[in-house]
Amino acid sequence: MSGNLVPQQILVEQTASEATDLAAELFETVICEAVAERGVCRIALAGGTTPHELYEKLATKGITSTLPWSQVEVFFGDERDVPQDHVESNYCMVQRTLLDNVPVEPGNIYPMPADAEDLQAAAKAYEEVIRANVPAGANGTPQFDLLLLGMGGDGHTASLFPFTDAVKEKKKLIAAHFVPVLGRSRMTFTFPLINAARSIILLVTGDDKADAVVDLLSEDKHRKKNLPSAQLCPENGKLIMVLDTAAGKKAGLKP
Ligand code: 6PG
Repeated sequence: MSGNLVPQQILVEQTASEATDLAAELFETVICEAVAERGVCRIALAGGTTPHELYEKLATKGITSTLPWSQVEVFFGDERDVPQDHVESNYCMVQRTLLDNVPVEPGNIYPMPADAEDLQAAAKAYEEVIRANVPAGANGTPQFDLLLLGMGGDGHTASLFPFTDAVKEKKKLIAAHFVPVLGRSRMTFTFPLINAARSIILLVTGDDKADAVVDLLSEDKHRKKNLPSAQLCPENGKLIMVLDTAAGKKAGLKP
C-alpha cells in the first residue's frame, strides 16, 4: 500500500494554540462558503485531544456568532466502543466542548453508534444515514463539505490504524473493526468516504507527531507504506494540513 498524500496546503503556526486559531478560521470560511453556496454545510468531526481547544474556540462568541450553525449538519469521523455519555466518547467530548454551546439543530447531529451490540449492522446503518443525508459528489460517494481529522503518532487517522484491513477498505464507507493495538473496537469513516470530501483539515500538533509528519511528507514510499494518513488524497477536494512547530520541526517546516 503506497501512500499518495498530496497536501494542497501545509500551514504551520508557532504554537498549538495558534494552529488551533488558524483551524478555527478555516472552519469558519468553509462553513460560511458552503452555506452561502448550497444552504447547508455537512461536517464530520474528529475525536481525541487535539481538537478540544478548536471546538471550544468555535463555540466562543467571537466566532460562533458569525457562523450559520442552524444550517450545519454534524457527523463523526470515528467513535470508540463506549456509550455516548462515556468520558472516552468522541460524541461526549464534542457535545461538551462545542454542541452544548452552539445552536446546531438537535436533529442535525448524527452520533456514531459504536457501542451497538451488532457493530457491523450499526456501521451499515450509519452508512445508510450518511447516504440518505449527504448528497453524492461526482464519483457517486456522499460528499462532506468539511472533515476535521487528527493523526496519531503511528500515522493513523480517524480510526484507520496501521496494519488493519479497514485501511484498505475500498467499498464500505463506514467500517467497524477490532483494533489490536488498542485492544478495543472502533467505528470509522473509510478512505473512500474521507477522500470524497470537498475539504479536509488535518490538524496535527505536538512533539509526539513529529516523526509521523516526517514519514507522511517523505518522498520515500517505504517510509509511508504503513502510514494510513498517507492515503489522504481528496479526489475532488482540498487537503489542508495545519501544524504547529513541534509537529513540523523534524520535517523542517516552520511558520
Ligand atoms: C480518536 C480520533 C483519532 C485522533 C488521533 C489523534 O478517536 O482518537 O478520532 O483519530 O484524531 O488519535 O489523537 P490526539 O488528538 O489525541 O493526539
